[in-house]
Amino acid sequence: MWNFACPLIVYGDNSLDYLLQVKGSKAFIVTDKNIVKLGLVKLVTNKLDEKNIKWEIFDEVEPEPSMDTIKKAGVAVGIYQPDWVIGIGGGSCMDAAKATILLLARPELEPEALSVLEDFNFREKARLMAIPTTSGTGSEATWAIVLSDTKDNRKLGLGTTESMPDVALLDPVMVMGMPAQITADTGMDVICHAIEGYTSAWGTSMTLGPGLIATRLTLQFLPRAYKDGSDLEARTEMMNAAALGGMSFGNSMAGLAHSTGHSLGAIFHVPHGRAVGLFLPYTMEYLINGAEETTAKYAEMARYCCVANGSDKECAQALVAKIRALAKEIGQPAAVKDCGIEKSSYEKAIPALVERALNEIMTMTVTRVPGEEDLEKIYRYAYDGKSIDF
Ligand SMILES: [Fe+2]
Repeated sequence: MWNFACPLIVYGDNSLDYLLQVKGSKAFIVTDKNIVKLGLVKLVTNKLDEKNIKWEIFDEVEPEPSMDTIKKAGVAVGIYQPDWVIGIGGGSCMDAAKATILLLARPELEPEALSVLEDFNFREKARLMAIPTTSGTGSEATWAIVLSDTKDNRKLGLGTTESMPDVALLDPVMVMGMPAQITADTGMDVICHAIEGYTSAWGTSMTLGPGLIATRLTLQFLPRAYKDGSDLEARTEMMNAAALGGMSFGNSMAGLAHSTGHSLGAIFHVPHGRAVGLFLPYTMEYLINGAEETTAKYAEMARYCCVANGSDKECAQALVAKIRALAKEIGQPAAVKDCGIEKSSYEKAIPALVERALNEIMTMTVTRVPGEEDLEKIYRYAYDGKSIDF
């Protein structure tokens, strides 16, 4: 038995007007100080004021929110007792909002217990809305919650199918001011979600469509959004692509670029999208060299995106070349050495990088599962910028 989960998606110009239609009287906004400073929260509260919905802001979310922050948000939401919880921001704010609404329903739980095993029934109390201000994580369209445990320096993947937002509100006005560097980093995350979701061993007929469309949209519109942040069409389509990417990998699973890139990010603090985007062409090559089924899927994508025509292998390789060209066009690093990481410290970290990657479920959901030795080689090749030939 499978299921495909996604929120009601409100998208396009003036989507914030949807707030004038919601039923409710109190909204609890989960965000960070920068989003407040940029005036983006005000765009939302103006609409809530117009609708006579009271609101309170919790703006203490940090990147990769900690358990302590979530506990604080849980106490504040418990006192406020809203009928809407609204996450405004990037993945961290939206994930924090998901955790907060779960604590509204079950205040006795510790944040690390916000897992698939519990029943929350939070919709008896409130509903959940996600309003992204970046086009990347796709958190607005997934139920996953990533929190960090600062005591043990580890990330926790939490959530339940219940923590899927009821509404994802994609208004391009929220991303128009995003700096070029963040547009590029987060955009690479989108194409990774799209391609890895499409080719995941857990993919189904339901997940293929979103992955395919998100790939085409990203190839077409990410360079435009990067070069001209005021390009409304490009911003709108990248927002759509991010949500579609979330639907793709959120209902299947991401893959090797995520497990290898995630480990690099954890140890060397490379932003998530930049790290996973860097590993995408290398891990695609690894799959092309030993996984026919996935090669055929890359070829389908390449043909659909008008990247190439020809044999499966030729098309798949052309898609890899296209990803490398995209990364170059938007100023993303082609190799680990371009991330300012010293070779000696990287070499020392390889056992830890490999161990972390091996412990990621995303290493298991590809059609050619690498062992320790292959992962080590992938990390070394990616440092030097060498194509994978094994
Ligand atoms: Fe990602």
